[in-house]
Amino acid sequence: MAEINPNDARDAKVFALYEQLVEIEERLIPTGLHVFGRASSAGEKIDLLKMIASFDRPEAGVRALPENVVDEAVREFVRAGTDAAIRLLEQKGLSAEETRPVLRLLETVTEKLKTNDELDSLVRALRGEFIEPGPGADIIQNPDILPTGRNTHAINPYGVPSAAAFARSEAVANSLLDRYRQENGRYPEAMALVLWGLDNIKTQGEGVAQALWLLGTRPVRDALNRTTNVEAIPLAELARPRIDVVMTVSGIFRDLFSPTVQLLDKAVRLVAQLDEPLESNYVRKHVLQQVEQDACDLDDAAVRVFSNAPGNYGTNVNFMVMDSQWEREETLGDLFVTRKCFAYGRDSKGRAIEGREARVAMDRALARVEATYQNIDTFEIGLTDVDHYFEYLGGVSKAVEKRAKSRPAIYLSDTLSRDVKIRTLEETVRLETRAKTLNPKWYEGMLKHGFRGVAEIENHVSNTFGWSATADAVDDWIYSEVANTFLFDETMLERLRDLNPHSAHSLVQRLLEANGRGYWDVDESVLEKLRDIGRSLEDQLEGVA
Ligand code: BEZ
Ligand code: MG
Repeated sequence: MAEINPNDARDAKVFALYEQLVEIEERLIPTGLHVFGRASSAGEKIDLLKMIASFDRPEAGVRALPENVVDEAVREFVRAGTDAAIRLLEQKGLSAEETRPVLRLLETVTEKLKTNDELDSLVRALRGEFIEPGPGADIIQNPDILPTGRNTHAINPYGVPSAAAFARSEAVANSLLDRYRQENGRYPEAMALVLWGLDNIKTQGEGVAQALWLLGTRPVRDALNRTTNVEAIPLAELARPRIDVVMTVSGIFRDLFSPTVQLLDKAVRLVAQLDEPLESNYVRKHVLQQVEQDACDLDDAAVRVFSNAPGNYGTNVNFMVMDSQWEREETLGDLFVTRKCFAYGRDSKGRAIEGREARVAMDRALARVEATYQNIDTFEIGLTDVDHYFEYLGGVSKAVEKRAKSRPAIYLSDTLSRDVKIRTLEETVRLETRAKTLNPKWYEGMLKHGFRGVAEIENHVSNTFGWSATADAVDDWIYSEVANTFLFDETMLERLRDLNPHSAHSLVQRLLEANGRGYWDVDESVLEKLRDIGRSLEDQLEGVA
């Protein structure tokens, strides 16, 4: 056995820690809420411009600024303008030709950030006047969304996935499979993916493209340049098995991306019928198993695209968690399936399946799932900002846990960073907690909004709790630090009390619930302190009433 030098081991640990710190430091977070009609502040602008300058945009002839100069160059740009920034970059060995396009882009963005037409457009819209259209997207991925206050248009579903989205998604799908293999020593046979409408608008279909890659298929365009078909990537080229993919799509996705729903269903059915060895084609393997097990036909066994019943939206898992209306965790997964077990696609005879209840098919498909996954594509909304991530990814993971009799590996991607990052759910919860909930820069930004800001802090904690309820993915220290930061610091508690005693009270209750349900192992003395604070907040609220 090779001897490990203790210094090397120590250095490796220090380096891993360093990488984590840089990751948290570099994480772009919203500092405060957007105020309708108000332009962003100077500090926010620098962070935003740095992110915008960090992305290559081959379609616009724009090269990203190298990582080691971006901060300095953007500060110089904001301080003294384009020419000054170009001179600075020249001193660092970057030619003006190289850097001018990205600085031009920053100029345009800066100009557009100054104008804010939101209020004016709202008033004009209320008068029934024409509002100019503009794309709906993430500002970093597509700065053309500026100026805001336009009539957001979505996307042509026949253009999804775009060539760029499909190309980008290969690396994501590979990293995802690599991560699973590192941890489990083999490929997952089946995965469950969550697909949302707005996300696929923003990225021109990255989530869709990732699903196609996992299946080992690529989109094919027709004579009108519409993506209406798929073809199989030959196994020799793919060099790995085709993964069985169970897709739960949101109601919004189903409504906006009807041709894409058909495309995804078509891809599964195509792969299921390929004459390939079963160990290289898990879709076919599972479909054939199910045909035998249930004595059903191939059409029923190949259903993989699920959503709500027509006209219905959401999983309601978030409401059940927020209102504490559940006793056993498996109820949350069952509710997810009850809401989402409607199949979409087209059978082999060409008959449309439009929201047919398919609970058994969904149960069977989920029972084979070994990993669940969702793509995160914006810095504005993360795992704990809204209750939708845990209702979907948490909901489906809990449903898998009961049906597969084993908790799946749960992953998220971060297609925001320069290089694709796949993280486990636990890693992502830790990162979000450190970058947002427990970060003074974040919570002070929220507290500037007074009443609403405290509600946002409480929401973050409740959304974090949602990850305990659906996936047991929250470390004890997270709840402990939330209590220390917001409730056991007297000055902070006073501020919360003054601004919004209702949310402060809910925060206390949520922490007590986390302990009561077994998600937070903590000393009785801490709980006693929490109960005291809870009682004094109740007294205050009664006094107010
Ligand atoms: C969607 O874009 O599909 C979506 C938006 C909010 C919550 C859930 C889904
Ligand atoms: Mg725990």
